[in-house]
Amino acid sequence: MKVTFFSHSTCMLKVHEKYLLIDPFLSENPIFRNENVFKLFKKIDYILLTHAHYDHVCDVELLTRKYNNILVISNYEISNYFNKKGIKTCGINYGSFISFPFGKLKYIWAAHSSVFNDGTYGGNPGGFLLHTDEGNIYISGDTSVIYEMNLIPTFGKLKLSILPIGGKYTMDVEEAIIASDFLKSEKILGVHYDTFEDIRIDKEQAQKRFFKKGKELILLEKGKTICI
Ligand code: NI
Ligand code: MN
Repeated sequence: MKVTFFSHSTCMLKVHEKYLLIDPFLSENPIFRNENVFKLFKKIDYILLTHAHYDHVCDVELLTRKYNNILVISNYEISNYFNKKGIKTCGINYGSFISFPFGKLKYIWAAHSSVFNDGTYGGNPGGFLLHTDEGNIYISGDTSVIYEMNLIPTFGKLKLSILPIGGKYTMDVEEAIIASDFLKSEKILGVHYDTFEDIRIDKEQAQKRFFKKGKELILLEKGKTICI
């Protein structure tokens, strides 16, 4: 499995030749100012949305207009919202694995909020647990650390967890370390930091703190890819 980090919470997973884009926030992301976001992707098969906040759903309409046949996967309310705009969607909710050509996906509880910029209710916020024969990965979405994270490794060992570390609206480094213990996860890809002034972190310090706990905090430059 390949994981490419773009910025904020936007990542692309490549699994079984399928391209899964998570929480696209590019065209209005200050880090991509004046860049043509279409140059970033040759192909997108799926868009996974953790919750309805603008910094996670900003480019759904832009990208689904440009790339044919994208299936948007999210909670029932977010799926309905985009389906009404003519976008192909699949709405799921907490409680079971759903099979897709790339593997099986479970929508996971998150402690956050979820509302669209126009005030439409965005259902319960969540994350995704993805089990594939190329490995298992957990994408928490925006959340604090929650005790429910203890359940996630009971479904299978994780190769990677994608966790927010910027604080203020989500977990900070301290909470993300506790989360990684709950998850029994040694490899963490940090997201949701440095995009804006109020979620700026000391990257070196953050990596040191994870290292001291025997864990690896991976922080990628925009556009960089890791193989797991
Ligand atoms: Ni949010
Ligand atoms: Mn956010």
